[in-house]
Amino acid sequence: MSLLSGRKVSVQFGGVCALSEVDFHVDRGEVVGLIGPNGAGKTTMLNAISGLCRCTGALQFDGKTISGLKPHKIARMGIARTFQVVRPFGHLTAIENVAVGAMFSGKSIPHKAEILNRAKDALEWTGLYAKRDLLPRQLTLSERQRLEMARALTMKPVLLLLDEVMAGLNHNEIDKMIELINRINSSLGVTIIVVEHVMKAIMSVCRRIIVLQFGKKIGDGSPSEIVNSPDVIQAYLGKRFAERHSKSVERA
Ligand SMILES: Nc1ncnc2c1ncn2[C@@H]1O[C@H](COP(=O)(O)OP(=O)(O)O)[C@@H](O)[C@H]1O
Ligand SMILES: [Mg+2]
Repeated sequence: MSLLSGRKVSVQFGGVCALSEVDFHVDRGEVVGLIGPNGAGKTTMLNAISGLCRCTGALQFDGKTISGLKPHKIARMGIARTFQVVRPFGHLTAIENVAVGAMFSGKSIPHKAEILNRAKDALEWTGLYAKRDLLPRQLTLSERQRLEMARALTMKPVLLLLDEVMAGLNHNEIDKMIELINRINSSLGVTIIVVEHVMKAIMSVCRRIIVLQFGKKIGDGSPSEIVNSPDVIQAYLGKRFAERHSKSVERA
């Protein structure tokens, strides 16, 4: 049985059909990429999974129906996320921001020592421990992205949803982020959905990629299947990208 599955998941905003009858699944332990042009419905899909927007159809997580549940209930079941536009609490330090995740992720609030331990662990994991007493505005964009990930990690998620955590980062920062995502998956055993435009990252962290366009699923397969899919090339990747990458995917 898949860890997460969606059947005919649809989201309507007035006249805009942001998601249209999308069927998909994510197996335990997978890192699945979610790609597509701007406005394709990627963030809406993460919002539907985390309960931030209402959807029709059915979403099941770990054998239970989650569509229709409130975001905090879904979070407590083990689904954590980051936001495309980072949303730190501006008046809290880095460690306090991360502690919030540990405080509110369970049925009851853990003891202060446990909260602090979990926050410190997550800051170490994401390479932010030395910056723990700084305010979000004193951090770089890359560090603020990792702060979002640290807050999500303190919730000890089973499934982590990452929304464009590499947007605006330089090559070096992207490489560090790729390494972090791989480590969260392989060492912590967290299943991950990665929404990303940085194709180098998608190709190196995901074993499977789902492609959306205008709210519809137009591709679902291994990186090599995706870079060779005529529909995906036309809708998103472009011919030059596909030609360059189909060779490197075959070599890998
Ligand atoms: N809260 C909202 N109200 C109205 N329309 C929205 C809202 N959120 C997203 N949309 C629309 O839904 C579509 C999908 O958006 P989104 O999921 O953000 O795309 P992506 O993340 O793939 O760029 C777009 O046409 C967008 O304008
Ligand atoms: Mg988006």
